[in-house]
Amino acid sequence: MKYLHLLNFSLIILFSACNSNKELKEMYLDKNLPVDKRVELLLNTMTLDEKIGQMCQYVGEPSKSEVKNVDEEVQYELDLGETAELIKQSKIGSFLKVPTYKEANYLQKMAEESRLKIPLLIATDAIHGHGMYQEPITIYPTEIGMAASFDTDLANKVAKYTAAEMRATGYHWTFSPNIEIARDGRWGRFGETFGEDPLLVSEMGKAMIEGYQGDNFGDSVNVIACAKHFVGGGISSNGLNGAAADISERTLHEIFFPPFIEAIKSNVYTIMPAHNEINGIPCHAHHTYLSKLMRDTWDFKGFYVSDWMDIERLETVHKVAASQKEAAKLAVLAGLDVHMQGPGFFDHVKELVNEGAIPEKVINESVRKILYAKFQLGLFENRYVNATKIKNTLMKKEHLDLALEVAQKSMVLLKNEANILPLSKQLNSIFITGPNANSQALLGDWSRNQPDENITTVIEGIRTKMSATTKIDFMECESYHSYSDNFMEEAKKRAKSSDVTIVAVGENSIRFDKDKTSAENLDRPILELAGQQLELVKALVSSGKPVIVVLINGGPIASPWLVENVAGIIEAWEPGMYGGQAIADVIFGDYNPGGKLPITIPRSVGHIQNFYNQKPSAFHRGCFFQSSSEALFEFGFGLSYTQFKYSNLKVKNSFTSDDIVTINLTIENNGELGGDEVVLIYINDIVSSVTTPVKKLVSFDRLHLEPKEKKEFTFDISSNSFKMFNQAMDYVIEPGEFEIIIGNNIIVSTILYE
Ligand code: BGC
Repeated sequence: MKYLHLLNFSLIILFSACNSNKELKEMYLDKNLPVDKRVELLLNTMTLDEKIGQMCQYVGEPSKSEVKNVDEEVQYELDLGETAELIKQSKIGSFLKVPTYKEANYLQKMAEESRLKIPLLIATDAIHGHGMYQEPITIYPTEIGMAASFDTDLANKVAKYTAAEMRATGYHWTFSPNIEIARDGRWGRFGETFGEDPLLVSEMGKAMIEGYQGDNFGDSVNVIACAKHFVGGGISSNGLNGAAADISERTLHEIFFPPFIEAIKSNVYTIMPAHNEINGIPCHAHHTYLSKLMRDTWDFKGFYVSDWMDIERLETVHKVAASQKEAAKLAVLAGLDVHMQGPGFFDHVKELVNEGAIPEKVINESVRKILYAKFQLGLFENRYVNATKIKNTLMKKEHLDLALEVAQKSMVLLKNEANILPLSKQLNSIFITGPNANSQALLGDWSRNQPDENITTVIEGIRTKMSATTKIDFMECESYHSYSDNFMEEAKKRAKSSDVTIVAVGENSIRFDKDKTSAENLDRPILELAGQQLELVKALVSSGKPVIVVLINGGPIASPWLVENVAGIIEAWEPGMYGGQAIADVIFGDYNPGGKLPITIPRSVGHIQNFYNQKPSAFHRGCFFQSSSEALFEFGFGLSYTQFKYSNLKVKNSFTSDDIVTINLTIENNGELGGDEVVLIYINDIVSSVTTPVKKLVSFDRLHLEPKEKKEFTFDISSNSFKMFNQAMDYVIEPGEFEIIIGNNIIVSTILYE
């Protein structure tokens, strides 16, 4: 009896020990504890499997199972097959390609059934709006258009509103912004970038990161951003996506690295390496860059996610690993934290840890950062979407207004012969055609097609402007590739019988369109208009009537014939859901275009590479056979319906490294219309110990002036902007004179560094 009593007593002790142990284990669920503490508590209770699971990302778009006619939720679980079981075993930490909020909720529910209930991160490519979502959504202009606006506040708002739409639908992590420098127009992903200039790309990237993440993504309307792709994909061999990039260390430091350094300073929480190798080392296995440079030198505190199957490609493409297991080892030891996507990686990493080839502390480091994100996002407290709130967030009026405003501000007027634009709304007749006149190509890549009623195409935008008496003649043109003789004749005839023709041509990169001309993995062997589009424009011009060309495109269209022969050209980029309205606003003068080129447009594909910040020797001897080496349009070019006059440039004569260099100048709107002016300030290091670019952008702003308004503006340039990498690769300001250049060589002054 006595013994029985004792046994009971020890059972009670054991039970309460278990209980308090359990309580201790679950303390990570206490939202009042600091996030770092919760991370450590949780990490300490996790098995190796559960830890590696956090590093695994899967696709949430399941293939269909045989079983049908069951409850929606059960159906989804069945369709997911083995993946559903893996979630319940905590062997998956995040998802991408999740179709809608419902699937996001189902996935989270399965995760909640796992031992530690760790929520999932749901990721998507919300690049210019939440465009991969399977239901109607706000689509903004693509990055190249945002860059043309030179308005960082707009980019910040686009990111902020996109984050709100993502969170409302259960997504927490966007693979955006793309902050690669684009130097080769053949690359099909050009439209995803902010163009060729390191400062512009850095500033736009920062603005978006801050918009997405807010204050350290601690708010329920913020998401984690992902700066991608590190590094050099914008100047890969032959302009092909994922091909090798061979870039000198100097050029990497001067041109390609700065946007990533700035992104890290803005606390970007994730970074995605590029598909390509850089100077012989695949980015996904680049220990020196991922771990030493970015973590130790630049102080990157977040985590890396691999790009789609690029760890596998260390074996299958780059041939730096003899097996998939070795590929996983190289990637994890280089610093990679999350694998995109699917099976294989988990088993390899587990084996490698068990064999001692990957220390468990490396895994702990990765998991710590991933868990931090989940706690910080508040997912342990609130992982589900409240469906009733979705309607009030998606496509809100302010989001739609912003989509139009960004589109308007992104328009660049490239040609306006004899001030043909803006057109009168009282024309007798107008003819509209071209493959992009009634197309959703406006939306650009990383967007699904949207319901027609949510989009304003070019023809729809124009229709809203014309007076009741104008004859609007629209000729549908469905192809980019070829037109019959009859079609050409008909087009010419109809152009001839109209006062003016508007032809919308260019590219099509919308994600799931069968008739794409450029996009991810669809690069451009020519920079001319694809297919027979130029022939179509020639036929229209041969009518003798004025022709206005509207270009819809992500990458540069290099067409000297167009520039010489048509009356007007509007570069509209991929202007998003209200692109057609913004274009019509510009055509008819309801909006005065003020965008400028964020890239240099070369004369042809053979003129690549052509960018404004070239070295002094770029064109000093070489001369193209029967062609000028000058750009067709320089970076920073863009016309307006008004004229701006610059005067009174004031800069002090000299500066020291402690100084801010203040530039004062007066700008006057000399015309009859209010308008925006993008002010670009460059420097040129006149004599330097190593070659420096002919000019380098150091500041920019977009200003508005009413007709006849005259204002003095001030630009503060940090002395850091005058730094360069000397022969020893030290980042220094060398004594001597610098030119200050405003805009397109408008005013030049010099300043001395002492
Ligand atoms: C692209 C990434 C993208 C990923 C996920 C890859 O093919 O290179 O930019 O984030 O797919 O969709």
